[in-house]
Amino acid sequence: MLTSLLILVTVAVDLGIAVAGTTGRNDDTTVFFENDGNWTSHGTKPSALFINSPSSHADAAAACEAQNEKLLNCDEYADYTNLFSYQQYLGAISSDQLFWSSCSSSSPTSLRGVVNSKKKTSSSELLPFLCTNSAPIVDKVDTDYSVYPRAQTISNGTTFEGIRDHMAFRFIGIPFVQPPTGELRFQPAQPWNKSVSHVNATEYGPACLQFGYFEGNSYGLNPWGNSEDCLYLNIFTPYIPSSDSAPNVDNGKPVMVWIYGGGDTQGSAADSTFDGASLASRSDAVVVTFNYRVNIFGLLALNDDVIEGNYMMTDKIEALRWVKKYIAGFGGNPNNVTIFGQSAGASSVNDLITCPAIIGEDLFQNGIVQSGKSNVATKEVAAAYALPYIEQYCNGTATERASCLRSLSADTLLEISNSSISWYTVIDGKYSADYTQARYGLGAQYINSVNVMAGNMLEEFQSLATTSLWPGMDNFTEAIEILVGDSALTQAQADAVAKSGLWTITNDTLYNGSTAYTSVYNASAHLGTEGQLYCEGTLLQWIGAASWAFKSHWFYIHNRGYALSYYDFYDLCTFPVGKPDTPYYRCHSSDLYEVFGTYYLFDQPVRAPEDIYYTNAVQDMWGAFARTGNPNVDPAYLRARSYFSTIDFFFGFEWPQFSVNEPSIASLQYPGPKVSSLPYQDHCKVLLPYVTNPAAPTSS
Ligand SMILES: *[C@@H]1O[C@H](CO)[C@@H](O)[C@H](O)[C@H]1NC(C)=O
Ligand SMILES: *[C@@H]1O[C@H](CO)[C@@H](O)[C@H](O)[C@H]1NC(C)=O
Ligand SMILES: *[C@@H]1O[C@H](CO)[C@@H](O)[C@H](O)[C@H]1NC(C)=O
Ligand SMILES: *[C@@H]1O[C@H](CO)[C@@H](O)[C@H](O)[C@H]1NC(C)=O
Ligand SMILES: *[C@@H]1O[C@H](CO)[C@@H](O)[C@H](O)[C@H]1NC(C)=O
Ligand SMILES: *[C@@H]1O[C@H](CO)[C@@H](O)[C@H](O)[C@H]1NC(C)=O
Ligand SMILES: *[C@@H]1O[C@H](CO)[C@@H](O)[C@H](O)[C@H]1NC(C)=O
Ligand SMILES: *[C@@H]1O[C@H](CO)[C@@H](O)[C@H](O)[C@H]1NC(C)=O
Ligand SMILES: *[C@@H]1O[C@H](CO)[C@@H](O)[C@H](O)[C@H]1NC(C)=O
Ligand SMILES: *[C@@H]1O[C@H](CO)[C@@H](O)[C@H](O)[C@H]1NC(C)=O
Ligand SMILES: *[C@@H]1O[C@H](CO)[C@@H](O)[C@H](O)[C@H]1NC(C)=O
Repeated sequence: MLTSLLILVTVAVDLGIAVAGTTGRNDDTTVFFENDGNWTSHGTKPSALFINSPSSHADAAAACEAQNEKLLNCDEYADYTNLFSYQQYLGAISSDQLFWSSCSSSSPTSLRGVVNSKKKTSSSELLPFLCTNSAPIVDKVDTDYSVYPRAQTISNGTTFEGIRDHMAFRFIGIPFVQPPTGELRFQPAQPWNKSVSHVNATEYGPACLQFGYFEGNSYGLNPWGNSEDCLYLNIFTPYIPSSDSAPNVDNGKPVMVWIYGGGDTQGSAADSTFDGASLASRSDAVVVTFNYRVNIFGLLALNDDVIEGNYMMTDKIEALRWVKKYIAGFGGNPNNVTIFGQSAGASSVNDLITCPAIIGEDLFQNGIVQSGKSNVATKEVAAAYALPYIEQYCNGTATERASCLRSLSADTLLEISNSSISWYTVIDGKYSADYTQARYGLGAQYINSVNVMAGNMLEEFQSLATTSLWPGMDNFTEAIEILVGDSALTQAQADAVAKSGLWTITNDTLYNGSTAYTSVYNASAHLGTEGQLYCEGTLLQWIGAASWAFKSHWFYIHNRGYALSYYDFYDLCTFPVGKPDTPYYRCHSSDLYEVFGTYYLFDQPVRAPEDIYYTNAVQDMWGAFARTGNPNVDPAYLRARSYFSTIDFFFGFEWPQFSVNEPSIASLQYPGPKVSSLPYQDHCKVLLPYVTNPAAPTSS
C-alpha cells in the first residue's frame, strides 16, 4: 500500500500535473477570501484559489480543471488586491509577480489583472495562478458536506481528504486517538497508532455522550449524533502547503487549538459556534477543535489506583501531540500553538499550563483563558462525590469494580452521570500536582510557562443563572439567598456582602465607595458573577503575575457582548437591532461569536455596524496573540490587509501588559478601547477570603 502510494506520487510529480481530488500530490494553495467581517455578505463575496506552485499555462489550466474549477479571468484579479498585498507582506510574492489567467496563454497577468500583450512569454514559463473557487459558504449548522468539493493534503505520510468551502479548507472528523471504548473506557487516551494511508475527513464525528444542548439534535445544534467513540478533531485552514516539499515549518500559520466549555459535562467540537472558517480566514490561522470526554466518561475518579480520573486531560494532551505531529501538513506551524478555551475550556487552559506530565514537551506556546478559573480537587473529594452513585451498580475490589464499570452499557453510565456528582480535575501527581493557585504561585519553572491572555465578561452569571433570578425581583436579601442556593456564593460570603455595604441598589450616585446598581436583578447578576467566576479567575491571574509565571501576560474585559442564539433567557444579553444604547448584560458565552465570527451560522443580525468592527478587532487581536504572543496587532499587517476598522480601533490605544506593579488591562469596546484597572477588586476583597477549595459532600 505504502509502495503504491509512493509510485502514484512519483508519477504525478513526473508528469508535473497538479492532481486534485483524492490521489497524488497537492499544490501550495491558499483560499483567497477577504473577510471584512460583514457576515451578512460573506457568501456573496469573491473567492478564488491562489496556487503558488509555479506551472506552465497548460498545467495551470489543468490544475484548476482537476478541481472542477477554471483559471481565473484577468478581469477578476482586481477583486483580490488586498489579498495580493498581504501575500507580499508575507514575502510569498513580489510586487511585479506575474500570473497565468484565462485571458491569454502567452501573456501573463500582473497582480492588477493587466495582461501585458507586448511582453510575450513562453506558455511554458512557470508561474503561479488563480483558479475560481465555486465552493459555497458553510452557513448553516446541518450543512450537507457531501456536495462540497474535496481537498487533500499529505501530512507525515498520511493523505487526509477534506473539504473546500467558500472561506477556507476544512478537514473534519479526524480520529486522533483510539476510540475510548471497551477496555479503553476509563483509560488514558491511547495514541492513534494504526498505520493508515488515507483519512476521510469530510464529515464531523459524533459528540461525546452527554445531556443538554448537544444531546442529539434536540436543540438543532448537533446533527452529528453522540457516541462513546467520540475522540475526533477538526481543522480549518486558509492554506495547504505543497506536498512536493517538506513543509517549511517557519512559514506555517499560527495554530489555534480550541477547547470547548460546558462545565465538564457538555460540549462539542462540531458546535458551529466554533466553525473555524471565519477566524481562519480573517486571522490567517489554522484553527483546530477537538472533542474530549466529558462527565463520567472523562472525569470519573474513585481514588482506588484503578479508576484514576483525568481522562479528559489525556484527551487534550493527545490532541496537542497529534497537532504537533501533523499540523504542518495543514499549513500550521507546530511551534506556534495557542490553546484557547472558554468557561470549563478556559479552566482546561489553566490545567494544561500547570500539567506536570507535559513539562518539556513544548506542546503550546500561548494560552487564552476566556472566563475561566480552575476546577481542581483532591482524589478523596472527587471520589466522595461519585462513589455513592457508583456503588449502586458496581462493588468489590478496585479491579472488580473497574471491570464491572467497563461492562455497563454506556447509557447506564450516562444516567449515573445525571446525578448530583461534581466533576473535577483531580490532583494525581501526574496530570495535576496541586491546586492551580499553588502551582501558579511557584512560578515559571514549575509549569508550562507560556504567553497568557485572560479576560472576562462583566455579567457572566446573568446567563449562568438561567432563570433562577428574574428581572422583576425586588428583594436583594432573597436574591442573595438564591445565589447561595445556586452555589454562586457561600453563606459566609453572603454575610460578608451584607456587612460590606459595597453592593447598593439605587439610581443615586454614591460617593462612599459602594457600587450603585439600578436594580436588584442587576446587582445580583454582578454579585453572582463575582462570586462564582470572576474573583477566583482574576485571583489566578494575580498569583501568576506575582510569581512571574508567564512569559508575557495580558488581561481584558469585553464591554461588548452578543448572546448565543439559544443562551439568553430574558433577551437581556443583547441589545435590540439598531439600539446599542439599550442597557444589556455582557453574559457568559457572549464572547464566542465575537471570537469566532460565526453569527451567520445562527442567522444572527448585525445589531449595529460596530458589531462587525468589534469582531474584526477581536479576531485580529486573538490572531496577533497567536502569531506573536502579543495582542497588539502589527500596524504593517493591518495596512497590508486593509483592515481599516482595526487600524481605527488601535488609534491612540495600546494594550499594556498586566503586572502586579501595573495591573493595567484592556477594557475592550468599539470604538474606544481603553486601558483601565481591573474592575471590582474591592468586591473581590470581600469575597475571596471565604473561598475554600472544594470540600467533600457532607451527605450523599
Ligand atoms: C497500538 O496501541 C495499542 C494500545 O495502546 C497497543 O495494544 C498496540 O500494540 C499498538 N499497535 C501498534 C501497531 O503499535
Ligand atoms: C468519506 O466519508 C463520507 C461521509 O461518510 C462518505 O460519503 C464518502 O464516501 C467517504 N469517502 C471515501 C473515499 O471513503
Ligand atoms: C512523522 O512520523 C514519524 C513516524 O511516525 C515520526 O518519527 C516523525 O517524528 C513524525 N514527524 C513529526 C514532525 O512528528
Ligand atoms: C455496594 O455496596 C454498598 C455499600 O456496602 C451497598 O449499599 C450496595 O447495595 C452495594 N451494591 C451492589 C450493586 O451490590
Ligand atoms: C437528568 O436528571 C434530571 C433531574 O435531576 C431529570 O429531570 C432528567 O430527566 C434526567 N435526564 C435523563 C436523560 O435521565
Ligand atoms: C426579603 O427576603 C427576605 C429573605 O427571604 C425576607 O426575610 C424579607 O422579609 C423580605 N423582605 C421583604 C420586604 O419582603
Ligand atoms: C454607601 O451608601 C449607601 C446608601 O446610603 C449605603 O446603603 C451603603 O451601605 C454605604 N456603603 C458604605 C461602604 O458605606
Ligand atoms: C432606577 O430607574 C429606573 C428607570 O427609571 C427604574 O426602573 C428603577 O426602578 C430605578 N431603580 C431604583 C433602585 O430606584
Ligand atoms: C446595571 O447597573 C449599572 C450601574 O451600576 C448600569 O450602568 C447598567 O446599565 C445596568 N445594567 C442593566 C442591564 O440595566
Ligand atoms: C454589510 O453588507 C450588507 C450587504 O451587502 C450591506 O447592506 C451593509 O451595509 C454592510 N454593513 C457594513 C457595516 O458594512
Ligand atoms: C513561532 O515559532 C517560531 C519558530 O517556528 C518561534 O521562533 C516563535 O517564537 C514562535 N512564536 C510564538 C508566538 O509562538
